[in-house]
Amino acid sequence: RRELKLTGKKVVVTAGPTRERIDPVRFLTNFSSGKMGYAMASAAAEMGAEAILISGPVSLSVPSGVTRIQVESAAEMLEAVEAHFATADYVVKTAAVADYRPKKIADQKIKKQQGESSIVLERTIDILNQLGQQKTHQVLIGFAAETNNVSKYAKDKLERKNADYIIANDVSEAQAGFESDTNRVVVYGKNDFEQAFDMMPKQQLAHQLFEMIIEKETPYDR
Ligand code: PMT
Repeated sequence: RRELKLTGKKVVVTAGPTRERIDPVRFLTNFSSGKMGYAMASAAAEMGAEAILISGPVSLSVPSGVTRIQVESAAEMLEAVEAHFATADYVVKTAAVADYRPKKIADQKIKKQQGESSIVLERTIDILNQLGQQKTHQVLIGFAAETNNVSKYAKDKLERKNADYIIANDVSEAQAGFESDTNRVVVYGKNDFEQAFDMMPKQQLAHQLFEMIIEKETPYDR
């Protein structure tokens, strides 16, 4: 039986992709299946937390003991996260949030035309960055999906977004990152903290990640 190390804690997890609408029938998105985020929420609930899962559109069912809030766009995800942030103890940003969205959403289906076409994109708000500015007591955990320079980009994100941990996956590696049932990550934290995990099922990895973070966050509480 696992120890209930998160009893009395509120854990907010984001998962899945966002959808940024182009017109009534089209959107921009990415390959996130939600598996990693759902595993994080499920692990938090199994460890005794009040687990809130803020999820983009995916085809997974709600893990036992988890409260799911479904959202579509980056803007909706931001709103849902903000609503739970003040009372959260841990916030885990596993979602693959769109960095850009179409500047205008067409009211009608865009018809095809001769020659090239383009869509003007504008930046979305970076949710993790926003939370980093507002943080009081919350432990803020981001993920980083990179295809190159993994450690450099992950460390940059840790600093820039004022996160406590960045969990980096090299998504160019087979069986890691998007869509797979397994993942292999390196966790970066303040004061040059760095810990590598072996390749393993996302469910098992989620438990090990919480174990590690709880251990580091409550060093005197043993
Ligand atoms: O869902 P799966 O198929 O299981 O795949 C898992 C995963 C690969 C999506 C996951 O493990 C992962 O790496 N998630 C983060 C993906 C990502 O968008 O990384 P990023 O480097 O673009 O963003 C860094 C961090 O900033 C992330 O915590 C992200 O949630 C956050 N962010 C990014 C943009 C934005 N507008 N708001 C954000 O909060």
